[in-house]
Amino acid sequence: MALRTIRTIGDPCLNKVCKEVTEVNDRTITLIDDMLDTMYEADGVGLAAPQVGVLKRIVVIDVGDGPIVMINPEIIETGGSQTGSEGCLSVPGKAGNVTRPNYVKAKALNEDMEEFIIEGEELLARAICHEVAHLDGHLYTELVEGELMNTKNED
Ligand code: NI
Repeated sequence: MALRTIRTIGDPCLNKVCKEVTEVNDRTITLIDDMLDTMYEADGVGLAAPQVGVLKRIVVIDVGDGPIVMINPEIIETGGSQTGSEGCLSVPGKAGNVTRPNYVKAKALNEDMEEFIIEGEELLARAICHEVAHLDGHLYTELVEGELMNTKNED
């Protein structure tokens, strides 16, 4: 298990357009494993490669149903809308209301570079939108309606 340092808002890595992945090699697998470890350790539901300083189109998500790894993810269909509180491991201690589609269909490659389709609603739809946006250099803070709020942190 290896944890990577999560870049926080203000780090230029978070504002870059990431590169497509053309091959999955040992380093890619290590990166994905480290991203999952880092996400779980930080109690997040998603993490994108630029958040650990790697400008590649890779995201990991786990909304409680097990890990999802998406390489070169692309949202191909959306439906409905949901407004709710959203946060990001790169914006620690903050949260804000963001409107996202309530349904998302996306395609991506798995670790064997095979294409798969994923459909998600509610939190999964929100997580897919949030993480894919990271790959184009966008943070949810750009979309917050009203105030960005401080989250309670009593640790
Ligand atoms: Ni995020």
